[in-house]
Amino acid sequence: MKVKLARKLGFCFGVENAIRAAEEALARGGEITSLGEIIHNRQVVEELARKGLKVAEDPEAVSGIVLVRSHGEAPETLARLADKGVEIIDATCVLVKRAQRIVAELRQEGYQVVVIGQSSHPEVRGVCGYAPGVICVDSPDELDRLPDGGKLGIICQTTHSVEHFGRMVGRIVARGYAEVKVVNTLCNEVRHRQVAAVELARDVEVMFVLGGLQSANTCELARLCREQGVLTHHLEDWGQFRPEMVAGSNTAGITAGASTPNWVVEEFATKLADFDPAPA
Ligand code: F3S
Repeated sequence: MKVKLARKLGFCFGVENAIRAAEEALARGGEITSLGEIIHNRQVVEELARKGLKVAEDPEAVSGIVLVRSHGEAPETLARLADKGVEIIDATCVLVKRAQRIVAELRQEGYQVVVIGQSSHPEVRGVCGYAPGVICVDSPDELDRLPDGGKLGIICQTTHSVEHFGRMVGRIVARGYAEVKVVNTLCNEVRHRQVAAVELARDVEVMFVLGGLQSANTCELARLCREQGVLTHHLEDWGQFRPEMVAGSNTAGITAGASTPNWVVEEFATKLADFDPAPA
């Protein structure tokens, strides 16, 4: 079948940096542990595990060399690691570090800090650690958690879409605060992938969004494609492909999240191009 690739897809520089940091540390030898899975991608996690990278969720359970992944960590977690005397390789993405710095500054300036993001997402958990008292909201029905007055300083999870950020800010402003300071912490790498995915989704009969099922930016790509009204499948790799997914379609589009390696995309595109779909 005819296969088209999004003009921007796959690994971002933050993920590439984290993987490079892990591989360089593994090449040097010693016991290396990633605090949480290095990225939300099973294939990459398995590949690095084969090379010796361990994963621990609890900072108390680590020793040797510890890799802080691109999502970053809260300052108290970094302090606990420092207290343990472990060597820290900090692979926090520069854009996440920027968000961490901004929430700390907003708090110092006297703003009630608001993070628009998923409170359970590792990046958001880490960012919130830089502004104690922060309020995290991610949908209109959570806005009752905000105070009735005062001045708000708002940022957003880096991987959210500009549309979601804009809608939430609009609703917050409509609550009538005298002062609202909004700092754009969205990641342009994510934005470029979203724009390219939407463009492609309007041009094909079926979309495949490749990447970890837990990956926030990949899930957002799938949501945006579905919003265009195109049949959309979010898969990890070719192993999850089923012929009925393309029945009656002649043109398929492929995009991939910022944590999806190129070889997953290339394998999927090659096999899909060779596939002969059944008529509807
Ligand atoms: Fe950083 Fe954006 Fe990637 S925040 S980790 S460059 S998705």
